[in-house]
Amino acid sequence: MDRIRIVGGQPLKGRIPISGAKNATLPLMIASLLTDEPLVLENVPRLADVALLQRILGNHGVDVMVGGKRPGDGEYDGQTLHISAKRIVDTTAPYDLVSRMRASFWVIAPLVARMGEAKVSLPGGCAIGTRPVDLLLMALRNLGAEIEIDGGYVLARAPHGLRGGEIVFPKVTVSGTHTALMGAVLAKGATVIENAACEPEIADVADCLVKMGARIKGAGTPRIEIEGVARLDGTRHRVLADRIETGTYAMAVAMTGGDVMLDGARPELLQAALDVLVEAGVEIAATNEGLRVQRNGAGIAPVTVTTAPFPGFPTDLQAQLMALMTRAKGTSRITETIFENRFMHVQELARFGADIRLDGETATIAGVPRLKGAPVMATDLRASVSLVIAALVAEGETLVNRVYHLDRGFERLEDKLSACGAEIERISG
Ligand code: EPZ
Repeated sequence: MDRIRIVGGQPLKGRIPISGAKNATLPLMIASLLTDEPLVLENVPRLADVALLQRILGNHGVDVMVGGKRPGDGEYDGQTLHISAKRIVDTTAPYDLVSRMRASFWVIAPLVARMGEAKVSLPGGCAIGTRPVDLLLMALRNLGAEIEIDGGYVLARAPHGLRGGEIVFPKVTVSGTHTALMGAVLAKGATVIENAACEPEIADVADCLVKMGARIKGAGTPRIEIEGVARLDGTRHRVLADRIETGTYAMAVAMTGGDVMLDGARPELLQAALDVLVEAGVEIAATNEGLRVQRNGAGIAPVTVTTAPFPGFPTDLQAQLMALMTRAKGTSRITETIFENRFMHVQELARFGADIRLDGETATIAGVPRLKGAPVMATDLRASVSLVIAALVAEGETLVNRVYHLDRGFERLEDKLSACGAEIERISG
C-alpha cells in the first residue's frame, strides 16, 4: 500500500489547478443511465472513485470511453468521458461493488425510472456514521415505486413507470435530493421537492439534466419543481470546479503561510468557508483566474464554526479546518451537525501533539505553538487530507498511511503540493 511522506516547514507558493468536483462527477455519471443516447462529461477528475463507478456502471451494460489528450491540454486538464447506456443489461447492483462506494447506491433512481425495476444492495456501514437511505426510499415511494427489502437488497419496482408526486424531506439530504431529481425527470406528471439540498453539485446535475431535455425549475434552492418527460437525450457537460478541493488547499496555505493562486476555483461555491478563513487572518482575493490565498506574517486566529448544509460551512471541510485550528493562537470550537461520527481525525491529530477535546458533537481545539511529525492514518478521505495539512507544518517527518483514501477524492495531491514547494512524496508499495 502506498504511503505519503511529508517533511513540514515549507510555505506554499505558486499555483494549484482545481479539478472537477468529485461529488458532481459521480451523480452525473449515474445520470447517464437515464438515456440511451451518449452523455459526454468534460473536466472529470482522475480519481479512484470515478474509476470504481466506471466499473459499477459497466456491470449494468454502460460503455465508458475515456478520451485521450488533445493538443493544448495541460497535465492537469480533466479527462473527457463518453458514456453510453444504450442498452441496460442488468438492473442489479451487487453488494461487493455498492459496499465499496456509497454513492453507487444512487443508481437505484435512474434504473427504476428507465427500466421499471432495480435491485440494489444496501450500502452497509460507513466510517463517518450510520448514513441510512430511508429518505432516498421515501422519495422513490412518493414517486410511485414499490419498495421491498430482501436479503440486504432494496427491490424497487414501477412496472408502469414512476409518477410525479410531492416529496418533503424532513432533513436536508444531498443523496435524497439526487434520487428524487433523477426519479422525477422521467416520471409521468409533476413533482415538487421541498426542503431540497441546495449544494452546487445538485444544481450542476440539474443543469446537465436540463440539457438532456428534462424540465426542472428551482435546482439550487430548497424547492425544486419537475415536469416529467417521456425520454431524455444525450448531451455534453463540463463538471463544475471542486469546492472542497479548493477549500482544502486554501486551508493548507493558511496553515503553512505563503501565497498560492487556486486556478479555476469559484469562490461563490464556498463563501462560508472563505469567510471563516478571513476571520482566521487569511487574505483571500477572487480574480478572473480563480482564488488567491495568502497568509504572510500574521498568526492564525481561533474561530467558532458549526457545519451546515449549503450555503453553510461544509462538513467536508470540517476536518481540514480542525487541522488548521490546532495551530491557532487561542481556542476554537467546531461543531459537526451533519454526520454524527465524523471525528476520526481527532485522535490522529493528537499524534502530532494537537490539543483537542471532544464533547458530543463539538470539538474544542486549544492551539499549540508547534506540531511534531508522526506516522498517522485515517479512515476517510477528508480526515486523511486533514493529516496532510497538519504534516505540512509539523516539525520533522510524517508518514500518512492508507493513501488510497486520498486517491478517492484528491487528484495528484502530492504533485500539486510539491509544485508549490512542499516537501512531499509518495512511497510506493
Ligand atoms: C453527500 O453525501 C456527499 N457525497 C458527502 O461527501 C457529503 O459529506 C454530504 O453529501 C453532505 O454534504 C457525495 O456527494 C458523493 P446526505 P450524502 O444525504 O448525499 C442523513 C465526501 O467526503 N440521511 O446529505 O450521503 C445522513 O445520515 C463525502 O466527499 C438520512 O438520515 O449525504 C446525514 O446525517 C462524504 N437518511 C444527513 O442526512 C437518508 O436517507 C446528510 O446526508 C439520507 C441521509
